Amino acid sequence: MTDDGDRPPDRFPADADLRRADDDVPTTWDFRVEHIARTWAQQSDLKKPQRPEVRARIAKRIAAGGFGDVGAGPRAPRILELGCGPGYLAEAILDQVPLAAYTLLDFAPPFLAMARERVERFPGTRFVLADFVDPAWTEGLGTFDAIVTMQAVHELRHKRRAPTLYAQTYELLTPEGLLLVCDGVPSNDTPLGMTLAEQQAALASAGFSDIEVLAEIDRLYVVCASRTR
Ligand SMILES: C[S@@+](CC[C@H](N)C(=O)[O-])C[C@H]1O[C@@H](n2cnc3c(N)ncnc32)[C@H](O)[C@@H]1O
Repeated sequence: MTDDGDRPPDRFPADADLRRADDDVPTTWDFRVEHIARTWAQQSDLKKPQRPEVRARIAKRIAAGGFGDVGAGPRAPRILELGCGPGYLAEAILDQVPLAAYTLLDFAPPFLAMARERVERFPGTRFVLADFVDPAWTEGLGTFDAIVTMQAVHELRHKRRAPTLYAQTYELLTPEGLLLVCDGVPSNDTPLGMTLAEQQAALASAGFSDIEVLAEIDRLYVVCASRTR
């Protein structure tokens, strides 16, 4: 929604500026503002009706297992979600894997509050307020068998940051760990959204292998990649 020309209603503050460099792509959707987060949560599945199916595909892949350290013994997978928003993807995954140790990370307190309300009934949930552009965001998080993210990588506000983000996620994964990235096909030529080829190149540059397209549904794609060592 934020990268396809939509604008929040006029009553939203016009001065929100999440740029960290001059060439970053600006947005007025500052999710740290309560009513902006609530509006996005209400509209996102209406504006992109394919989102529930995309979530279902990601959840199905996680439920299928066979990644990370889980092969070593009978324990629930440790999963990290980057940019969890209101917790829709977390709920879809936890419905399939209810005992997962699931960390929801976001930099917007209103979204973390909504996500907590949605999934705190699951026993392994943990909620982390962190900014994945901050170089130190991974400190103290632990390691994970899978990392998932949906429509959040473009929130880096410039695609040149994606290889760094993926290198950091690589380090958080256990051997054979899995990364699932969902984002949208770019609708303009700003350096925000990434094509599938750009995603694959960024993942390969970070050390990932077995990079495959898990799903492509109406301009949303899901790329799957593994840490092999
Ligand atoms: C478009 S929303 C997608 C939310 C959720 N993944 C979904 O698909 O329902 C982007 C999410 O990324 C979060 N986000 C944006 N920039 C971030 C950053 N620098 N660090 C952590 N989270 C961020 C936003 O707060 C928001 O929850």
